[in-house]
Amino acid sequence: EAEPAPSLAMPRITQWLAVLCACIAAASAFSPSLNSPLKPQFSSCRKSQCVPSSPGYPGRSLFARSTSKSPLRMSTMENVDGVVDEEVERMKKSSKFDFTKQWYPLAVPAFLDHKKPQAVQLLGRDLVIWRDTVEGKWHVFDDACPHRLAPLSEGRVEEDGTLLCAYHAWRFDTSGKCTSMPHAMAGTEQQLTSTPPSCAISYPSQERQGLLWVWGSPGAPGSDAALEAALKEPSVIPELDDPALEGRVRAYHWNIRDMPYGWDYFNENVLDPAHVAVSHHGLVGSRYDGQPVSYDQSRALTAEGGFALKIKFGSEEKIAEQQKTGLMPEMEFVPPARVTQRNTFKGGGQMILALYSAPTRPGWVRHIGCNIIIKGEDGKVPDGLAFFSISMPMWLSHITASLFLHMDMVFLHHQEKILAARGYKNEKGGKGDYNEIVHTPTEQDLGVTMFRKWLQYSCEGGVPWAPGSEEMPPRERNNDQLFDVYHTHTKNCKVCQTALKNFKRARFTLFAAAFAVAAFFKGVTALVGGGLLALSGLLLGKIINMFYHYPFQHAYND
Ligand code: FES
Ligand SMILES: [Fe+2]
Repeated sequence: EAEPAPSLAMPRITQWLAVLCACIAAASAFSPSLNSPLKPQFSSCRKSQCVPSSPGYPGRSLFARSTSKSPLRMSTMENVDGVVDEEVERMKKSSKFDFTKQWYPLAVPAFLDHKKPQAVQLLGRDLVIWRDTVEGKWHVFDDACPHRLAPLSEGRVEEDGTLLCAYHAWRFDTSGKCTSMPHAMAGTEQQLTSTPPSCAISYPSQERQGLLWVWGSPGAPGSDAALEAALKEPSVIPELDDPALEGRVRAYHWNIRDMPYGWDYFNENVLDPAHVAVSHHGLVGSRYDGQPVSYDQSRALTAEGGFALKIKFGSEEKIAEQQKTGLMPEMEFVPPARVTQRNTFKGGGQMILALYSAPTRPGWVRHIGCNIIIKGEDGKVPDGLAFFSISMPMWLSHITASLFLHMDMVFLHHQEKILAARGYKNEKGGKGDYNEIVHTPTEQDLGVTMFRKWLQYSCEGGVPWAPGSEEMPPRERNNDQLFDVYHTHTKNCKVCQTALKNFKRARFTLFAAAFAVAAFFKGVTALVGGGLLALSGLLLGKIINMFYHYPFQHAYND
């Protein structure tokens, strides 16, 4: 089903495309669009939604800077450990973070085919997402029929509002209860379908802010687990529900990708601002303009609340001004699934990058992201962000996300395997001290260190993968395999599927027209007309390729 892969070196026309899209994708992994199905929702902010705060925590500068005339003092990891250690001691004494009692964003319903149940994973469990035809709600079950464990994701959504296992036609209602067992002897069906072993195992789920959230452990409606899930808020984006910001929030549509590296490597990547200009050279800054990065801690590290850091980057004058005005960029980690990067501007405007991640299975993460602009109190988009108000087709922002994501992807895939080979096992009960294996002598890695300390001391080493879940896949030596876009996004995105179908039709039409012009006209008309049509078809082919595969190498990114 995949188109032939382009050569590993960035093709010239793709480079041209990259240049076109560079400014669009710049400063964000995901490009904004006004064609958004995600509408800001305004409701009163429930208290449990707020990140647990640390009473009396004033925020602190982790490392005093030298006088403005002296060079910046680069802090050593010893300092970092010293600061983090206070919080580590607290985490050691506090209760542990329970991954199974959390909400995870696992899908964007607007992109899903309503007719087909979808296979997904969470915490190493195989799940199926399906939408009933009566109430139009999404439901999540274990992806194994209780009969003989055939995957329900290979089943069918039926018109009576049930999910039908396509192997022997048992049917399940939205709660998981078996409603039909067609091969049961006459008079026994009702009794047989009503027993608990005949039920599909269901998970609490809910739609919020355009995402489908799934609870990390099973719970049929009415069960204690379902009640516990109902009492906890998913870590939605507070600004989208803040009535005080009504009329000022411009939220853009979601983007979703399965990435071939672990959930923890995704988070350390987005908590590492120092890599941005280097790894994303040409899109965001230059790899040759490295500057010291340091932080003020704005929220203490806790098991349930994660942490937040204000980022100090650039000249001392700029940092001093940002500190004075409170306009410092901030990144926050809200376990288990959200990292938010916030830039605040004069007049109250903000640009927020919401970066969600769900631990699907070992060695893989499902990433869902969204870019949000909050207009200033005067109702204007902050200076320099007007560009982000430009309308962009959803499919284009989906395929151009590869330009950004693939710049880090190869690093993260291999880092995970290299660290594993050196003794760091990133799962619950796993062995190895991350900070003893890597060498992080500067303060630039503070976000990564805090995240890893949180994982080590609040989570006993990492994700508690479900019993029987698969092992982390081996290191992929052929990097070209990692650049797959089709199976990690396009295949399950109906927006991209529709665009792809239309582009293929258009390409066929262009080539047919080129052939007709060349055949029926003569001279310059045949040459120029046919040539232009054929060239357009070839260019379209390059766009079509981006739905399948997008290779990238830093060596060729000059
Ligand atoms: S395996 Fe599902 S009905 Fe038999
Ligand atoms: Fe898409």
